[in-house]
Amino acid sequence: MQILRIDSSTNGEQSITRQLTQAITDHFTAANPGATLVKRDLVANPLAHIDTVTTEAIRTPPESHSEAAAAAYPAERAVLDQFLASDVVIIGAPMYNFSIPSQLKSWLDRLGVAGVTFKYSENGPEGLAGGRKVVIASARGGEYENGTMTENQESLLLTMLGFIGVDDVTTIRVDKVGYGPDAIAAGMAAAKEKIDEL
Ligand SMILES: Cc1cc2nc3c(=O)[nH]c(=O)nc-3n(C[C@H](O)[C@H](O)[C@H](O)COP(=O)(O)O)c2cc1C
Repeated sequence: MQILRIDSSTNGEQSITRQLTQAITDHFTAANPGATLVKRDLVANPLAHIDTVTTEAIRTPPESHSEAAAAAYPAERAVLDQFLASDVVIIGAPMYNFSIPSQLKSWLDRLGVAGVTFKYSENGPEGLAGGRKVVIASARGGEYENGTMTENQESLLLTMLGFIGVDDVTTIRVDKVGYGPDAIAAGMAAAKEKIDEL
């Protein structure tokens, strides 16, 4: 069994999502002592934005790659293969400016590969990357469940994961981080109860 932990917060030690990904990781490693834990810190080791070469490497068949795309392909494909090799994927996903950090978007950009994680047929898009559990560790300054503000953070991740066929997704969330220490403490306590139920 492989557990993959992804972090994308730029808030260092103060990060709420990093505290959540740590607690979720501890939960799964305690329940599965033989599991392999793999960590990808997208802030310490960012993936570049996709460009002309990496787009060709990711999205076109290897047999037609230019020399530059062929050189880029192994590292690009390794990001996807690490995801596909994981039974549990824990995604630290802070809300930054109503969306996810661009570091996390760059990781997502490696996952959408026709013929590998999805395909189109007469029935529309079909996801091919199911069979794993994903836990989203979400933190947000405000409150979004009351529907007064649009968010493109959890909804973006859920759309992408659903598109590639991942249907076992749980979100552990701390909202109202901007309201101060009492709100954070209450949010963390509620999140830890949810983690225990995973
Ligand atoms: C660059 C940046 C942008 C942010 N944008 C938003 C936002 O649009 N909406 C919101 O509710 N909170 C926003 N916040 C607050 C964060 O969502 C909150 O601090 C959360 O704890 C971030 O997770 P982290 O602590 O793991 O980094 C922003 C914070 C940062 C650093």
